[in-house]
Amino acid sequence: MKMAPTSSQLNGPWLVTGATGLLGREVARQAAGRAALWGTWFSRELASLDGVGYVQLDVGDSEAVWRVVQRLRPRVIIHTAYRKEGPDLQRVTVQGAAYIAHAAAEIGARLVHVSSDVLLDGEHAPYDESARPGPLHPYGVAKADAEALVQRAAPNAAIVRTSLICCVQPPDPISAWVIDSLLLGRPITLFTDEIRSAVWVQDLAAALIELADQSFSGVLNVAGPQPLSRYQMGQRLARHYGLDPAGITAGSSLASGLRRPRNCTLDITLARRLLRTRLRSYDEGLADAAPSPVMRGPVS
Ligand SMILES: NC(=O)c1ccc[n+]([C@@H]2O[C@H](COP(=O)([O-])OP(=O)(O)OC[C@H]3O[C@@H](n4cnc5c(N)ncnc54)[C@H](OP(=O)(O)O)[C@@H]3O)[C@@H](O)[C@H]2O)c1
Repeated sequence: MKMAPTSSQLNGPWLVTGATGLLGREVARQAAGRAALWGTWFSRELASLDGVGYVQLDVGDSEAVWRVVQRLRPRVIIHTAYRKEGPDLQRVTVQGAAYIAHAAAEIGARLVHVSSDVLLDGEHAPYDESARPGPLHPYGVAKADAEALVQRAAPNAAIVRTSLICCVQPPDPISAWVIDSLLLGRPITLFTDEIRSAVWVQDLAAALIELADQSFSGVLNVAGPQPLSRYQMGQRLARHYGLDPAGITAGSSLASGLRRPRNCTLDITLARRLLRTRLRSYDEGLADAAPSPVMRGPVS
């Protein structure tokens, strides 16, 4: 551990898992001013954010999770850490979520667990919070199993189902791949039949922080209000960066033979009722970001 939080801990510290990730880092950045804050990292020790103390943690190690949680005794835990694939998918994404939930319940911490729209089957959109998981691929199965274990271990937890997390400054990994491909003239195909309720990382982080201070329990959809296909998003992104959208070929998820949920549109009526945070559409988020022709280096 290094750099203990400096603010007073009248209300108890917060712990953000995966604070080196796209979402966790933004949560830590926004929450740092309002609470003493600890963030966990696993393999990447990135530049520290002001006001954030960092601790290395493998959430797939039950003893390590318990040691860290007992030592820091957070009042709030926002759990973003995960693995999307690979041999550690089950250990980190499923077991890790369960260890965090057990530890949170044991010390009475408020838990906000981040889940995903890809646990849905993609054939019955739009989905409200009552939608039952019907995952099509191992990552979807893992997120569904994680939800179930979290619900069992920490029934008071908020479980946030979200969608593609976007950012343009700097671009999130998928946007960066699109931009780099266009810059380098690499062929790129995006599906017209994979629909997502993309959410801006700043909005999602603010919503998670807001939820941490509420008592809402169970599943809550927190996503953007503008369902778009990956192809439509790519076209908009290209135009935002002054690149030629014609470099993107329209493809079909169905025809590709890949087992992926196609339309995961999330109904966010409940989130709009519960939260003050405004969940901006994809178009609004792009308009809010300064239009920026980019010169990125070649991707390795
Ligand atoms: N990105 C999306 O479009 C999207 C869409 C829907 C839902 N979600 C959900 O949102 C959450 C955050 O996603 P993200 O895109 O922000 O993730 P990300 O950028 O890939 O970051 C993943 C984080 O998990 C940490 N991590 C990996 N293995 C770990 C382990 N064994 N123990 C502890 N931490 C570990 C990483 O730490 P190091 O970097 O230090 O290794 C990193 O901080 C996930 O729960 C994901 O399922 C994401």
